[in-house]
Amino acid sequence: MTQNTVPQHVGIIMDGNGRWAKRRGLPRQAGHKAGAKAFRNIVKHCRQRKIPYLTVYAFSTENWKRPKAEVEAIMQLLEEYLDEAFAHEDEDKDVRVQVLGDISPLKPELQEKIKQIQDKSRDKTGLTVNIALNYGGRDELVHSMQALAQRVKEGRLQPEEITEGTIEQCLYTAGQPDPDLIIRPSGELRLSNFLIWQSAYAEFVFMNVLWPDFGPQELDQALKEFAGRNRRFGAV
Ligand code: IPE
Ligand code: IPE
Ligand code: MG
Repeated sequence: MTQNTVPQHVGIIMDGNGRWAKRRGLPRQAGHKAGAKAFRNIVKHCRQRKIPYLTVYAFSTENWKRPKAEVEAIMQLLEEYLDEAFAHEDEDKDVRVQVLGDISPLKPELQEKIKQIQDKSRDKTGLTVNIALNYGGRDELVHSMQALAQRVKEGRLQPEEITEGTIEQCLYTAGQPDPDLIIRPSGELRLSNFLIWQSAYAEFVFMNVLWPDFGPQELDQALKEFAGRNRRFGAV
């Protein structure tokens, strides 16, 4: 089977910030700051490599279990990124920013900034950057099921009309291709609730580097590995 050697959609679980900081005797927050820098570099590199969709896992529905100060530091870094994207949007760069996840528990100013950047960048046609924020794959499916149940209740949808397609239309990633490649740095070998529906046929690359040390070279290494994979999608 022929296949694209460049993935249309790359997902990255940006993991290992805390360990990166610990190794340097720094507070975990310093690791998140270094991780935010790595993220900016990878966005640039994805544009250079002409990858149309990038989804980064920034904060999971389970990450609220962390100390309040750490959660606040992560939210602060996200806000800085959104401010920057908003400020540079006019000269830039063909980047569409979308947030995947339930933003309703975030502070109102952050919710507002998310809506503004999504609106302002909506028509960009280059790279789409999805930031998974307060995102959980199970939570996403719950939302999708609730939306469909509501339609059934209102008589607008028959139960037998529920298909993979109708479920997908209610996911945060509606209208986007499934991720072809999911990369997890930091040495952990799990998905941690990331894109569990969409990753059904994704290729996985797990790497031993910590996220703040993940740069263009590491992305190229993962892309090379992807290009050598033989994807069959159940066929022979
Ligand atoms: C990923 O790095 C960032 C978030 C989960 C928000 P971690 O903070 O999980 O780093 P480790 O896994 O503790 O090293
Ligand atoms: C996954 O990393 C979430 C993000 C990178 C945002 P975690 O560090 O939260 O995952 P676990 O706890 O190791 O599974
Ligand atoms: Mg982690």
